[in-house]
Amino acid sequence: MIICVCNHINCKSVRAAVDAGADSPKAVQAHHGCKFQCGKCRPSIGEMISDHMYQRGESPALVPAE
Ligand code: FES
Repeated sequence: MIICVCNHINCKSVRAAVDAGADSPKAVQAHHGCKFQCGKCRPSIGEMISDHMYQRGESPALVPAE
């Protein structure tokens, strides 16, 4: 499922970025060489980061919406 329509970032891409160390929506965008455009995806990416970290057994810190 596409999470960021502007930059064509999907769920799998968000998880890959988190696995590579991205810990914020901005870091996820940067991992894929993108920047926010409309910014509507920020909350969804933040939620996905928290969920993915939780599934990996990490305690998700507050993910800044930036
Ligand atoms: S939907 Fe992600 S920047 Fe627009």
